[in-house]
Amino acid sequence: MRVLSGIQPTGRFHWGNYFGAIRQYISLQENDQAFYFIADLHALTTIRDRDQLVTLCREAALDLLALGLDPSKATLFRQSDVPEVSELTWLLLTVTNLSWLEKCHAYKDKKGRGLAADAGLFTYPVLMAADILIYDSDIVPVGVDQVQHIEVTRDIAERFNSLYGEVFVLPEARVLDSSAKVLGSDGEKMSKSRGNVIELFESPKKARKKIMSIRTDSTAVEAAKDPDNCSVFDLYKLFASPSQIEALASRYRAGGLGYGEAKQELFELSQEHFAAAAERREALAADERRLDEILDEGAARAREKAAEVLGRARRACGLGRTSS
Ligand code: TYM
Repeated sequence: MRVLSGIQPTGRFHWGNYFGAIRQYISLQENDQAFYFIADLHALTTIRDRDQLVTLCREAALDLLALGLDPSKATLFRQSDVPEVSELTWLLLTVTNLSWLEKCHAYKDKKGRGLAADAGLFTYPVLMAADILIYDSDIVPVGVDQVQHIEVTRDIAERFNSLYGEVFVLPEARVLDSSAKVLGSDGEKMSKSRGNVIELFESPKKARKKIMSIRTDSTAVEAAKDPDNCSVFDLYKLFASPSQIEALASRYRAGGLGYGEAKQELFELSQEHFAAAAERREALAADERRLDEILDEGAARAREKAAEVLGRARRACGLGRTSS
């Protein structure tokens, strides 16, 4: 089985990225052929500063490796190091119905918030379809916000296959129920563009401040509280063991627990959770050459597969030299 996913380097990774997606990348690298990439071409729709993009790509690769992505098991690369993807995007654009893109929420949201929508943002799901289809991907581990894009990918692949024959494998999204949508400090989906994220590797001081600012209701300390109706508890569940979850839930229900205390528990557990990764990250950051080698080797492996599938697609629609 080919597993594939991409992540945008538009900011430092946060809990939503980790629990919704990165955690799955790591577990799926064990038994499957896993390809993971840093979606720098997608990031161009947001980041317009060269140095910032270069830094964020590097930070993204370091974060993924520190969190447990193992280059001897999985292939890690930069999206832009596989130029075949851009060519396939064009082939796919020619079979993509505009109405499929008009309904895509990433575009609708940004437009709805009054942000400038350019053609890159509008056609973003087609680039994503090319990312997925070019590696014959079977499984795409993502958070729930990306499921719609994978449905569009299937629509595009089906349309192409119905016109030109069985060229593409139809991929499936893999979403974890427990963390399909991680909420941020304002109770909305945790998202870089909403500014409500808690990053994986920020300083303890900053992380604590953000955790303390998570929105809660105004129930008094002594009153009993409903753990199932509290963002702090929702986040706590991502980190805690079943017995820790049960213990904190009982304290909520018993009354006498202030939200500040629950937040402190969340802070401590989250610090513990990423402590080993933070240490590994420091060691990795010191070896810049090794990081480049990992990304170069990953790109070479990814390009080999991409060239094969792009060749298949080109031949199917009559491009280039078809006689041998
Ligand atoms: P991106 O960079 O926005 O997010 C990366 C991954 O993190 C997940 N995620 C979340 N999961 C749960 N709760 C949240 N609050 C949360 N926030 C983010 C996302 O679902 C995603 O899995 N278009 C993609 C990148 C991409 C891609 C691809 C993904 C480009 N090509 C091909 C898969 C396959 C994106 O913007 O993800």
